[in-house]
Amino acid sequence: MVVAFGLFAWHRREVTAGALVLHMNGPTAYPIQDFGPVMKGMVIGGMGIVHVFLAQFAIGGGVLMSYFEWRSARHQDADARLFLDGFFKVLVLASFVLGAMTGVGMWLTSIQISPQTIGQMVATFHWVWAIEWTFFCVEVCCGYVFYRYGAKLGHPDRLRLLVLYSLASYGSLFWINGILSWQLTPGDWILSRSLWDGFFNPSFWPSLLFRTVACLATAGLGAAVVIDTMSLSRERRHTLLRSAIRFLTPMVLMPVLAIWYLWTMPEDSREWVLGGSPAMNLFFIAAVGASLLIALYAMVGLLYKRLYMNGATALLLLALAFGASAGGEFVREGARKPFSIRQVLYSNAIRPDAVARMRREGSVANDPYPLRDGESYPTKQLALGARVYRAQCSVCHTLSGANNVIELTKSWDLDQQRLNIAKLQHTKGFMPPFAGPPSELEALVQMLRWRAAHKPKHWPVSDDPAVMRDLQRMLDEATTLPGSLSQRRPPMGKR
Ligand code: HEC
Repeated sequence: MVVAFGLFAWHRREVTAGALVLHMNGPTAYPIQDFGPVMKGMVIGGMGIVHVFLAQFAIGGGVLMSYFEWRSARHQDADARLFLDGFFKVLVLASFVLGAMTGVGMWLTSIQISPQTIGQMVATFHWVWAIEWTFFCVEVCCGYVFYRYGAKLGHPDRLRLLVLYSLASYGSLFWINGILSWQLTPGDWILSRSLWDGFFNPSFWPSLLFRTVACLATAGLGAAVVIDTMSLSRERRHTLLRSAIRFLTPMVLMPVLAIWYLWTMPEDSREWVLGGSPAMNLFFIAAVGASLLIALYAMVGLLYKRLYMNGATALLLLALAFGASAGGEFVREGARKPFSIRQVLYSNAIRPDAVARMRREGSVANDPYPLRDGESYPTKQLALGARVYRAQCSVCHTLSGANNVIELTKSWDLDQQRLNIAKLQHTKGFMPPFAGPPSELEALVQMLRWRAAHKPKHWPVSDDPAVMRDLQRMLDEATTLPGSLSQRRPPMGKR
């Protein structure tokens, strides 16, 4: 199997090299998808959150099942065995069926939305990825064997199988964690380009340990839900519950791990999480709050005061855990802005070192794809503006929905619009610098104004050389560096 994956990885590398060559022609060599009023981040995020939650459940679930198997043999505990069979059905259904479906969904959506990011990730980590897939394969095989033959096997074999399942599923987390944390903190890899510098990057360990705790807690809560559906006496359910809730105890480490994680984050990302960006800050607080509530209830209520947890409470706690996990993922994804891979690739698939060239040559000069509503623009300038929006802004904004850029610019006058977009990376530090010449900037501004005016049939072309010189000056002042690296100037004309 390893050989097969190795061969596959080698094959992928060739494909990726082709993609990277394509990309060098410009950011728009791949078609850019349009999801209407839905922000692309929400499409990936929505899918990703469900997938991560299910994967956490599958990984923690393996450890939990190994523990219960061990217990059932050691204490001759028939209830533990009964629970195992019920829990395993949920695990199979949730993690194999839904998990695999959302996993494929992740690939589908992320390749639609950011093929360059995925291309760079595969190019850098193709072997690591092959290893991760191998572990995942072992996990699926163990799960299947347990499903098919678990009831017929004796205790030592069952335990062996479950431990192998746990190791394989934890292994897949270990390997994918290196790739995901590298996106946020590529660390020494930036200079050395060494695979292991990238893999064991600064946020690797805090992220891995944090996720480990989350896996165990999710499995514990999932187990509580299953236990509450079992037709046993309340006493016997309570005994099982108390064992399952132990899996929430590592949550006491969460504050330390969260601080460690924040510590390894780049300074600007950390500032956004801790208040610089109201949305991200809100999600962060929600995630922390939800985790605290779960941990408090588990520690004080269940373990210390020996309260009983009924099905509704267990479900509610599981829902809270889902919320915490969603908030955490949102923060992790959001904190990376304006990059999809820090210092390597902006979210809009433009490379930082290409911005200066694109300021001269344009961002859509090589865009081969027609506009969706190509006929409806009264002038070529407006159509150019639509292309520039599509290439540079559409990955984070929409024209008629979430983070609507028309609404965001509506209250500004013409000069403020020009200035704030020319200095995009200073207007909000989580946006990349504008990557086009004055003609593209003006085309974008005119397109936004034309749309804000409800698309009138006639719209004057704006090509006054004095305006173009002004725009050039603004772009020069903004520099081609990201906002967090160039000196932090407040945007002029506003606040
Ligand atoms: C990496 C993602 C990203 C990209 C790319 C991006 N933006 Fe933004 N932009 C944001 C986010 C996030 C906000 C914050 C929205 C808020 O505050 O509600 C924002 C805010 C804005 C605002 C409001 C700023 C303010 O001070 O109120 C404007 C205007 C804007 N963007 C224009 C653009 C334009 C034009 C482009 C393309 C040239 C662009 N953005 C590209 C993420 C991005």
